[in-house]
Amino acid sequence: HVMNQFLGVSHTEKKLSQYLGIERCLIISGNSDEQPKVMAEIGKMVNQTLQIILPLGRDIIAVMGGTTMARVATELTPKLSDRRELLFVPARGGVGENVTIQANNVAAQMAKHSDGKYRAMYLPENVSPDTYASLMKEPSIKEVVTLIDKSQTVLHSIGEALTMAKRRHLSSDVIDFLEQRRAVAEAFGYFFNAAGSVVYKIPRIGMQIRDLKNKPYVIAVAAGESKAKAIDAYMKNAPHQTWLITDEGAAKMILKGA
Ligand code: G3H
Repeated sequence: HVMNQFLGVSHTEKKLSQYLGIERCLIISGNSDEQPKVMAEIGKMVNQTLQIILPLGRDIIAVMGGTTMARVATELTPKLSDRRELLFVPARGGVGENVTIQANNVAAQMAKHSDGKYRAMYLPENVSPDTYASLMKEPSIKEVVTLIDKSQTVLHSIGEALTMAKRRHLSSDVIDFLEQRRAVAEAFGYFFNAAGSVVYKIPRIGMQIRDLKNKPYVIAVAAGESKAKAIDAYMKNAPHQTWLITDEGAAKMILKGA
């Protein structure tokens, strides 16, 4: 079984990647909704995957926030930096989350655990379009935006739309709108319906969904039965080169809907 996970592709992994229309799925046993230790295994699998796919030399890795990413960060190992110079950058500016799970902190934690470096991007919340435009000209922000553009690897999670909207303190008008438009998934500050169409976007500085198609390594990490619908919806529009690292809980539930 372990051999399968590292060297081959299991039957379910193949079925899931075909169903989702993406390059590769890696499935960890269990359901992380009920067994927190599954997340540790997922983190180890992310570490292993990066070890295999990241080119040697300089790597810029753009990372998103969330509890999944924060948990994954602690499982990265210094070995990743053997013959590599890793630089972690937040893929997008703040999204109203608790500091510990913001992309800035995830980038810092990933750098710490993997012996790499990181850059932070300090941005205020809810800025006006004018302020947004002038912030984009700010040298310190521009520098990180350039690094995001240059990154070849993206690490992100996927959340349930309404759970994420509430956690990010979006207004009740926006929440009503998301319900009306039947949003089920959220990633990168974009909200998607079950068909995978974007129904709402939080305007933020940094990586946009359209930029993903130019990134050779895109790793989505999302697990637990409760995220099945969100993963399924998001993947309808994900770039084909995406790898999904998930668990059996989510995988079985997604395939049941198939
Ligand atoms: O964009 C997705 C969310 O950041 C996922 O958050 O890992 O805490 O569920 P989570």
